[in-house]
Amino acid sequence: MKSKVMIAVALIVVVGSALRVWKTSSAPASPSNNTNSSSTTPPQAEQPAVFDKTTHSTTDPSSLWVVVNKKHPLTPASYAPNDLVIPNVAQRVPGNESMQLRHEAAAATEAMFGSAAKQNISLMISSGYRSYTYQVNLYASYVHKSGQAEADKISARPGHSEHQTGLAFDVEPASQNCEILPCFADTAEGKWIKAESYKYGFIIRYTPDKVDVTGYSSEPWHLRYVGIELATEMHNQNIRTLEEFFGITGGDSY
Ligand code: DAL
Ligand code: ZN
Repeated sequence: MKSKVMIAVALIVVVGSALRVWKTSSAPASPSNNTNSSSTTPPQAEQPAVFDKTTHSTTDPSSLWVVVNKKHPLTPASYAPNDLVIPNVAQRVPGNESMQLRHEAAAATEAMFGSAAKQNISLMISSGYRSYTYQVNLYASYVHKSGQAEADKISARPGHSEHQTGLAFDVEPASQNCEILPCFADTAEGKWIKAESYKYGFIIRYTPDKVDVTGYSSEPWHLRYVGIELATEMHNQNIRTLEEFFGITGGDSY
């Protein structure tokens, strides 16, 4: 009895396998395998993906792509982000409200500083979020010190600063070497930032070759978060300013 059952099971297995082989060999070849078929669609040349410049607003103050310059103030001028946090990185004034960034920019900063540290580059936040009122006092102090014309080359008037978006911060070496000075560009930290920051979604906003476009002297320390997609696109196209990328007016006059 037992051997009869075993023979029956063996028969089922053999017949089942034979059926599977027959089904496979008699099935028509799929179109993708049939290179001789005249009905096959010819392979298409891969189209380069077109970057969509309308993905985010350039005027909404809470947009990652908002363009803020002397011609384009934040609207409303009193705008304040609602997702400010202090990133878990080295800070010039630890815990101070000026160390804050918007949540996404803070996460990108943590990732960037973490990668830099693995390459023995130690970075620190020098100045991040500034409220409208903070900028009133800061700008006034520059005017007091150097006069309005000089102040306007290096400091935004209230309501016109990227720092107020919570998406910009000034970076410096943890050693404070060349802190907010032109020589920052020549430090190992400054070079690393210039080469690598786009990979984390940042651009250096005020470059020496674009003073007429941005309206500000070179600031190799001022980083603006725009997201990895846009920062990479600008890098690949070798476009330095948001004004040129989006075709938005800028310049040195208000
Ligand atoms: N230093 C930059 C331009 C600012 O004041 O926002
Ligand atoms: Zn700055």
